[in-house]
Amino acid sequence: MCGIVGYVGPRDALGVVLDGLRRLEYRGYDSAGVAVLSDGALHCSKKAGKLANLEKQLAEEPVPAGTVGIGHTRWATHGGPTDRNAHPHASADGSVAVIHNGIIENFAVLRAECEATGIEFRSETDTEVAAHLLAAAYDQAPAGPGRLAEAMRAVCRRLQGAFTLVASHAAEPDTLVAARRSSPLVVGVGDGEYFLGSDVAAFIAHTREARELGQDQVVEIDRQRGLTVTDFSGAAVEPKAYTVDWDAAAAEKGGYPWFMLKEIAEQPQAIADTLLGRLGAQGELVLDEVRLSDQELRDIDKVFVVACGTAYHAGLIAKYAIEHWTRIPVEVELASEFRYRDPVLDRSTLVVVVSQSGETMDTLMALRHAKDQKARVLAICNANGSTIPRESDAVLYTHAGPEVAVASTKGFLTQLVACYLVGLFLAQVRGIKYEDEVASVVADLRRLPDAVTTVLEQMEPVRELARSLAEADRMLFLGRHVSFPVALEGALKLKELAYIHAEGFAAGELKHGPIAVIDEGTPVVVVVPPRARDLLHGKVVSNIQEVRARGARTVVIAEEGDEDVVPYADHVIRVPRTPTLLAPVVTTVPLQVLACEIADTRGLDVDQPRNLAKSVTVE
Ligand code: M6R
Repeated sequence: MCGIVGYVGPRDALGVVLDGLRRLEYRGYDSAGVAVLSDGALHCSKKAGKLANLEKQLAEEPVPAGTVGIGHTRWATHGGPTDRNAHPHASADGSVAVIHNGIIENFAVLRAECEATGIEFRSETDTEVAAHLLAAAYDQAPAGPGRLAEAMRAVCRRLQGAFTLVASHAAEPDTLVAARRSSPLVVGVGDGEYFLGSDVAAFIAHTREARELGQDQVVEIDRQRGLTVTDFSGAAVEPKAYTVDWDAAAAEKGGYPWFMLKEIAEQPQAIADTLLGRLGAQGELVLDEVRLSDQELRDIDKVFVVACGTAYHAGLIAKYAIEHWTRIPVEVELASEFRYRDPVLDRSTLVVVVSQSGETMDTLMALRHAKDQKARVLAICNANGSTIPRESDAVLYTHAGPEVAVASTKGFLTQLVACYLVGLFLAQVRGIKYEDEVASVVADLRRLPDAVTTVLEQMEPVRELARSLAEADRMLFLGRHVSFPVALEGALKLKELAYIHAEGFAAGELKHGPIAVIDEGTPVVVVVPPRARDLLHGKVVSNIQEVRARGARTVVIAEEGDEDVVPYADHVIRVPRTPTLLAPVVTTVPLQVLACEIADTRGLDVDQPRNLAKSVTVE
């Protein structure tokens, strides 16, 4: 939700900022804007719509060159996606330009206060109050080094809600300041230059050296004084340094027409990387960061998996595996619902939060609620240094590399793998599984990259099928057991990419109502469990017959050699034989390809579907 870029250094700031915005556009694309500080004045340009609109405007009406700049790409919350609501927002006297990600919850009170002093607002955003307050606070702050940071701290102490703010002041030619509370912000450190970004993609083309910013911290980047971090009261803080382990090429399309296609193709490698180094010398499983003792893990008597969207679907699948391997009861919750229903949590509860971005606000708030209730929190996350892993007691990183397409693909498959590892880890620590049993499942996991490669090599018929389904106005997805969440994920992918109404159902549930919507030609995708699961398999084959009898056009995903499905399938998509609990890793892939191809055939923007943003940093 909203991409933020800032630059201080010797180069042309506009070029650096626009380049960063291009890499962050997946975070929001309702509008874009920049401000460059040049000759003691701030020069702003902003435009509704995608970044391309702003670039066109800048080509027609260039801003002067400068070495301090900020840029923003927006996912609208307060105020529609118009030119005037686009960021940056300036103070009434034009001395301050501010960009913001998040929601300032007490903006109405602050706006009334500003209006009482005669300020006329030029936008409907919550952000604009920050610009006016900052200009006033700057005037009151003691002159000299650190003045803008002091003003930022004073403003932040008055703000409620979640925010990342970056500000430039016309009288500070070498300085940018930024603040964060519950919204993402990282600092990039180059050679005599500094970058700010919502994530490292903003500056990865220039440096891989990054600094994490903690909750309620203010950072000043200054060409002379360097980097200074404090908390909101002004106490100095040492930011945590880290090196980004991927480079700019990883965040490029690499010849693919869409990032999503590239990310689908990267899945075998992403799974292999997520498994890499997980088995220690004694065959024990290794997590990235564990701030929990073995005794605390042994005391766990209940697990919650909490996540949103696709990550939630990974959690639904995790339940089957974790319960099966550990015999600990597992509940799976939508993060946005979790804390509002007052779940029963205590010291012996493990809450597993799953988030690709590590910044999803609903998940972060669920995490904080769990910690308030003294539960232990383990994060499964793809973004190193993001808020969710930082606030958790233990972390297992998925090593999927940057996921740029809004629709999650490799993020999902690696989350599944990570969930399996967590299940095995718990089983091992609690003595429920011997090391050789764990190693045997890990060996099955290690076969998954090849299995996914095999699926990917057989996708041409799926693409052809997708083109024939592009005119469908609805589609159903069915599955039982672990294939039920796969069906939910298939439906979500189709909705978000192709804007086709789609629903996933537990196959056995259909006859309790939803089967009524099926009529002649309704496409129904059925994910069939492995043939070895006799009872389960037989039931699903019956379910295919039931929908076929009502006129459905059946698309069946079944393992190699499963001939039972053939008489009832209008289309069969084959996947390699895989143990039941791990099968979602292979059966999901055709559904990703199907949705991507249908969207492409419909002429839609696969990477940036309407109304969405990659990282949802508001509740
Ligand atoms: O970054 P997260 O994994 O926390 O994101 C959760 C969801 O917002 C995300 O999975 C979303 O549902 C995707 N657009 C699905 O493709």
